[in-house]
Amino acid sequence: MNQTYINELKDHIGREVTLKGWLYNSRSSGKLVFLQLRDGTGIVQCVVFKGNNEELFENAKSLGQESSIIVTGTVKTDDRSSIGVELDVTGLEVLQNASEYPITPKEHGTEFLMDNRHLWIRSKKQNAVLKVRHTVVKATRDFFDDNGFILADTPIFTPAACEGTTTLFEVDYFDDDKAYLTQSGQLYNEATAASFGRSYCFGPVFRAEKSKTRRHLTEFWMVEPEMAYAQLPDVMDLGEKLIKFITERVLNDRKEDLAVLERDVSILQAITAAKFPRIHYDEAVKLLQKGFAKGEMDNNFEWGGDFGAPDETYISKQFDAPVFVHHFPAIIKAFYFERDAERPELALGADLLAPEGYGEIIGGGERATSIEFLEKQLIEHNLPKESFEWYLDLRRYGSVPHAGFGMGVERATAWMCGIEHVRETIPFPRMLNRLKP
Ligand code: 4AD
Ligand code: MG
Repeated sequence: MNQTYINELKDHIGREVTLKGWLYNSRSSGKLVFLQLRDGTGIVQCVVFKGNNEELFENAKSLGQESSIIVTGTVKTDDRSSIGVELDVTGLEVLQNASEYPITPKEHGTEFLMDNRHLWIRSKKQNAVLKVRHTVVKATRDFFDDNGFILADTPIFTPAACEGTTTLFEVDYFDDDKAYLTQSGQLYNEATAASFGRSYCFGPVFRAEKSKTRRHLTEFWMVEPEMAYAQLPDVMDLGEKLIKFITERVLNDRKEDLAVLERDVSILQAITAAKFPRIHYDEAVKLLQKGFAKGEMDNNFEWGGDFGAPDETYISKQFDAPVFVHHFPAIIKAFYFERDAERPELALGADLLAPEGYGEIIGGGERATSIEFLEKQLIEHNLPKESFEWYLDLRRYGSVPHAGFGMGVERATAWMCGIEHVRETIPFPRMLNRLKP
């Protein structure tokens, strides 16, 4: 294919190339038309001189935003360009001259942009965010693949809840049967970890979250590693390594996109060398209560509660690096957590809170190994035992201490990008009030 990509132009200075893409923007001044051409790899300015070819000039002048065009020209260095080059146009082929593209450079409201998400993803900023997501996903896969983990995908239709019954999406599943969209692959990971030692799943999960926050989607992507012969500290060690690996990759591979997003990268750079603090839930509660005493928190947090977004933000602001909070009250956690031997009211779980108010990006812990305990938990959590018999088998045949976690791709990406809302970190977000496009 006779095509050069914009991100390769620097290797073609002085040569004639052909670029295939769409018109991002244009302006003309007397004898010149400046076409901003985008091709997915970047944006380059293409200059058309009236004096060179009048017909081509008129053609270029008539093009609407997002017209699909093939441009031929000579690559010239240009110090004013952010990519260091521009194109002197010698040829132009118009596949479609588009008119009245709905998203113009003026300001649009978020709802409008979300309704036009299928087009909005072409814009510079959205393109940059989704490229960061790509790198987060790629880095995550590389990390596990290169550290002895086997990818074992888990089902999306499941017979029972994993993360509590209040956020389940129910679907009809033949002959009056019900299935639920998976909330997490963890229970199945526990089975695959007993086969491979270390395994991970990576796919979409579903939560019927009625909360309209900037951190919640109803469909999101989660990577979940699980390790046999592992305990709570191993979860924190692995989570810390993963986050550092992803951060380094993003800093390295997505410099230009982070610049488009005007991301202050100093915080990301700092965490790659930092030791992530680990604090007990008790200690986190003390921090929050001190915050209230100092007038920095609106409510006085009570021991036993789950952290809300303001609590997570406050805790994370006390540290320069992501912080693990561990040993939560079992009552606020899912049924499967192993308990602390000395204080059985505590679950051996750990959440990683990202800096800058991005909240929990990793949640995980050590899994209970006792059948008797799990049977009691199923009853207490109102879960149907018959759907969990296979899960109890894992405690019948070669039961070992095991642990793992889940990292939400969208929250991690939002933090890397420094953007406000997770809805921009997935190509087509699904939320409480959004099922289109
Ligand atoms: O803390 P969660 O619910 O943990 C689990 O599902 C465990 N079973 C994982 C495991 O141990 N294998 O979710 C894990 C992560 C959170 O830390 C967060 O990053 C993300 O998933 N997450 C969400 N992201 C976007 N929208 C939502 N509604 C999310 N809920 C959780
Ligand atoms: Mg959690």
